[in-house]
Amino acid sequence: MASTGENINANEDELNSTVLKRKSPERDTEESDNIPSKMPKSDEHASIVAAHYNNLEEKGMKERFNSPIFYLRNFNNWVKSVLIQEYTDKLREKDYGRKLQVLDICCGKGGDLSKWQKARVDRVVFADIAEVSVEQCKARYEDLQRRCNRVYAAEFIAADCSKETLRDKYSDASMHFDVVSCQFGLHYSFESYAQARRMLTNVTECLRPDGYFFGTIPDAYEVVSRAQKAPDGKFGNRIFNISLLFDPKEGFPLFGAKYDFHLEGVVDCPEFLVNFELFVKLAAEFGLELVYKARFADFYKDHSKNYKQLLNRIMCFESYPAPPGKELIGEDSDYEHAKKFFEQAEKKNENDRIGTMSKSEWEVATIYMAFAFKKLKNTWDSKGKPVYETAKESK
Ligand SMILES: C[S@@+](CC[C@H](N)C(=O)[O-])C[C@H]1O[C@@H](n2cnc3c(N)ncnc32)[C@H](O)[C@@H]1O
Repeated sequence: MASTGENINANEDELNSTVLKRKSPERDTEESDNIPSKMPKSDEHASIVAAHYNNLEEKGMKERFNSPIFYLRNFNNWVKSVLIQEYTDKLREKDYGRKLQVLDICCGKGGDLSKWQKARVDRVVFADIAEVSVEQCKARYEDLQRRCNRVYAAEFIAADCSKETLRDKYSDASMHFDVVSCQFGLHYSFESYAQARRMLTNVTECLRPDGYFFGTIPDAYEVVSRAQKAPDGKFGNRIFNISLLFDPKEGFPLFGAKYDFHLEGVVDCPEFLVNFELFVKLAAEFGLELVYKARFADFYKDHSKNYKQLLNRIMCFESYPAPPGKELIGEDSDYEHAKKFFEQAEKKNENDRIGTMSKSEWEVATIYMAFAFKKLKNTWDSKGKPVYETAKESK
């Protein structure tokens, strides 16, 4: 018998064949049975994922503006910007002039290049499995250099971060990071116990004590909960589809819980669920202590007041009703909530608008969650293993 996240010290075979059984998607820990699951061929997935992202076309401004996920993308960018700002600020609260070094792991085409510039960091190492994306990231960095006076130093690594050792590839093997960011990418490594461990080794190996590791992933409980309500484990709307490749009624495997994810024009490949409780326990072995987690809906509640200007500036919400000469990006049924809210509002005139997101986009946004960990200080035991202090001790 294994219960949620309690067996992370078990051997790899055991872990790969363990299914976390859940009667309902509630977040409580409950007893589970061991049910063998077929493990997929790992190299095959890695090349499917890399090929998918390599072949993604870079979209121009006009295309992006007309995209059915325009506001969703902006909202995701808002979440990432807030995470970057919050945790770089926290580090500077303690040491104002601190030069910050960053690892942007699973960086893609460099969607966060300018966010690091705004955060005034000193150096960023960008790493991703998709070679073409890494090249595009480098080209976009060079463009940033042409446009700005002073830009952080950068290096670029194409590598499977769930199988290779990043440290061997840094320009300086003694490199230390203050921040490690993994945006919308960690879940790919939850294909197997060994891959998740390698990913976490890469994340933590050079992260300084008191440094932060943060990121965004799909919330496994949300995915399973929605799938359990669907007749065949498939759900979605006009912009996304998720199709589980295991039976959610039997729970979900701790690793290799595979599903196909299609998001209009952005994602179309297999992904893996991250059992969050297990992730936290595994992360603790690497000296990481969870300091924040929130589903995107709650993340918005937590930060919308402090980052309101940014929400408006990067256009996270659509004006409802559509301004004269413009059309809403969704269908009528996407705005029933906004219509009701608008109609109930008092004293409105024809120029009044509310900011909203189409129901279809919000259904995607609310699948995701954000997390942040702090790296604990450590000493070494007689066998050379790190012994991590708790946060209280390390203050
Ligand atoms: C959804 S994209 C996110 C890109 C970027 N972080 C962002 O927020 O714009 C996920 C990225 O994870 C990368 N990825 C997936 N598996 C990986 C692995 N094993 N090692 C490194 N990168 C990986 C993909 O190539 C892809 O670029």
